[in-house]
Amino acid sequence: MNVATRSLLDVEKIREQFPVLHQKVNGRDLVYFDNAATSQKPQGVIDSLTNYYQGYNANIHRGIHTLAEKATKAYEETRQLAKTFINANSEQEIIFVRGVTEGINLVASSYGRAFLKEGDEIIISGSEHHSNIVPWQILCEEKKASLKVIPISNEGELDIEAYKKLLSKRTKIVSVNHASNSLGTINPIKSIIEFAHQAGAVVLIDGAQAGAHLEIDVQPLDCDFYCLSSHKMYGPTGTGILYGKKELLEKMPPYQGGGEMIKDVTFAKTTYNDLPYKFEAGTPNIADVIAFGQAIEFINGLGKEVMAAHEQELLQYATDKVSALPSVKLVGTAEDKVSVLSFIIEGIHPFDIGQMLDARGIAVRTGHHCTQPLMDRFGIEGTVRASFAVYNTKKEIDQLVEGLERIVNFMK
Ligand SMILES: Cc1ncc(COP(=O)(O)O)c(C=O)c1O
Repeated sequence: MNVATRSLLDVEKIREQFPVLHQKVNGRDLVYFDNAATSQKPQGVIDSLTNYYQGYNANIHRGIHTLAEKATKAYEETRQLAKTFINANSEQEIIFVRGVTEGINLVASSYGRAFLKEGDEIIISGSEHHSNIVPWQILCEEKKASLKVIPISNEGELDIEAYKKLLSKRTKIVSVNHASNSLGTINPIKSIIEFAHQAGAVVLIDGAQAGAHLEIDVQPLDCDFYCLSSHKMYGPTGTGILYGKKELLEKMPPYQGGGEMIKDVTFAKTTYNDLPYKFEAGTPNIADVIAFGQAIEFINGLGKEVMAAHEQELLQYATDKVSALPSVKLVGTAEDKVSVLSFIIEGIHPFDIGQMLDARGIAVRTGHHCTQPLMDRFGIEGTVRASFAVYNTKKEIDQLVEGLERIVNFMK
């Protein structure tokens, strides 16, 4: 994305919308830098949950009474917002799931079980989250297919030449992240998709770390599947979307059976509902889906490009300051990154750094970030990860740097 270099946001005004940020942790103002794990929620999202339960809690789609109609309308409005957010062709291509993990499992179970056979191959990358590794391993085991892995450079970038060599007519699925949760690397998904299609494979993009940071336009991207988690986009946990091309979703068998996904049931035979409901068995997470709509509106209201400019400014500032500290080594130095800064400090365990920062009110994530094979690639157990959102400030980064300086001096 082409981002302006200066932040155009009134960050203090944005912070006012996030009640959780205004508290002391261990006696100090909270600094929340664990946004890649989950972002905080603005008041509009919180209010949306309360409004639903206080005002119109009802089950959706089948009811004809006023509350049911109101709930159905609000639920389907989020589908409309999600469709526009990623520029899908139709609402039928938007399936509500619990999050990226369930989206990937849905595709592996439904598409994978129906269309893979012995000897087929699936390609993922060396920087995948466990959610984009394990479902494919389960499928490979069941189908006697094999999993191939695109190698990662020392900077944390995918080796595209190696990827091209992995592709063959045996490749049936390519599944990679849009941006890495551990390193921040933004992957060149457009060309990854093009090469996969030339080989005849379908492509799933794990957009967990892209949803709040990068423009997503599934039509020119031409991806076959794209997954998002609401909770990493200022929305509630427990919901997200799987985008799938209509022609693929139509030929895929259902993922789960139950209410809502059926057209007609007899003991002899069941026929399935139209898209997207064929993939939404049971009562869904109504309140959270509705509040997810508020989160999308929040992002739309600020504008992703403006948000990204602010986050890139923070990333640059933090990268310069943290890398200048003694004994610090950055992990993930790709040219194109979302606002994730991963690092290690020689001689100090990431967990200890995390604990000492927490004592100063600073929340970072430490460990393998659900990317153990990636940590193995770098020969480390884990990193300290500071990830920035639209409400973070340079002053908070100064607090992080001051905390790290003290830790380094204390441990010397
Ligand atoms: C890149 C990536 N993929 C997948 C996931 C899983 O997302 P969820 O737990 O919301 O299903 C995460 C969460 O951290 C992630 O960062």
